[in-house]
Amino acid sequence: MLATRVTEKPKLSKDFTVCECCLSAAALHGYNGHQSNNRVKKDLLYMIRFENVSYTYPQGEKPAVNDLTFELPSGSFHFLSGPSGAGKTTIFKMLYLDILPTEGKTMLLGKNVGNLSRNEIALLRRQMGIVFQDFRLLDNLSVRENVLLPLTLHGAPSAEQEKCVDEILDWVGLGHKTHEQPERLSGGEKQRVGIARAVVNRPKLLIADEPTGNVDTAMGKRILHLFCELHKHGTTVLLATHDRELVENFGFPCLYVQDGCIKKIIPGGQELPKQSEIEDAA
Ligand SMILES: Nc1ncnc2c1ncn2[C@@H]1O[C@H](COP(=O)(O)OP(=O)(O)OP(=O)(O)O)[C@@H](O)[C@H]1O
Ligand SMILES: [Mg+2]
Repeated sequence: MLATRVTEKPKLSKDFTVCECCLSAAALHGYNGHQSNNRVKKDLLYMIRFENVSYTYPQGEKPAVNDLTFELPSGSFHFLSGPSGAGKTTIFKMLYLDILPTEGKTMLLGKNVGNLSRNEIALLRRQMGIVFQDFRLLDNLSVRENVLLPLTLHGAPSAEQEKCVDEILDWVGLGHKTHEQPERLSGGEKQRVGIARAVVNRPKLLIADEPTGNVDTAMGKRILHLFCELHKHGTTVLLATHDRELVENFGFPCLYVQDGCIKKIIPGGQELPKQSEIEDAA
């Protein structure tokens, strides 16, 4: 296996300081201030750390993710690409704590996720925006109510938050469908509702699994610009996609996954190699 380490130094945007990251992660730890312990500081600099992580599905014959080691700095933006069945969604499932690694250690926002209580998991998830490959909208709620959901979980949303929901729905081209039920939407429209729901909370970490898989090229770029805006304001983004053009045009580094391993890290702005070139190099 290729030893995999994203060595890029944490690039924090102007409005996002390490201290802000520390504060959010500190809330999870119950800390009161900046910690002097080096290990803690290092953990907080990385939004995501996988150490020798493997996952085998209960019915799986071989690991879907195999001995994966990588770390993504707070405030970074990475693409995750690779062939169908490579393990991208399985990595995401571990990130949103739907499954735990069968081997290895995962850290999120400076927290070892191996033995969290239900409350701690809920607290961690609240700081994430998640775009699911299969949308996961609630059919008994309207489009607007689905997008409001991350806010209503914390109590009644403010007028400002409600305005924000309407603006995001407009941005993704669904301003005219806010009262529609999800079952009456196309795949691409459902996907855009899922994206609006993921970003409405201005998450610390945004993980998006094929967020542009069902929309046209122009809408795909529009969605990427929305993610770039969040990134500029400090959100760490990991975005799985098969779309070479998006990866090549948006200039962020790409982790290329195959057979459950990261085979290559392609620096931002570079053309993605053809799959045969990656296989030859591995
Ligand atoms: N629930 C499951 N039970 C058993 N095996 C599974 C399950 N889900 C996925 N797998 C297997 O795990 C491997 C990785 O699947 P995963 O969904 O992570 O791939 P992916 O890279 O997201 O693919 P795609 O690009 O098609 O979305 C595949 O071999 C798949 O068949
Ligand atoms: Mg997938």
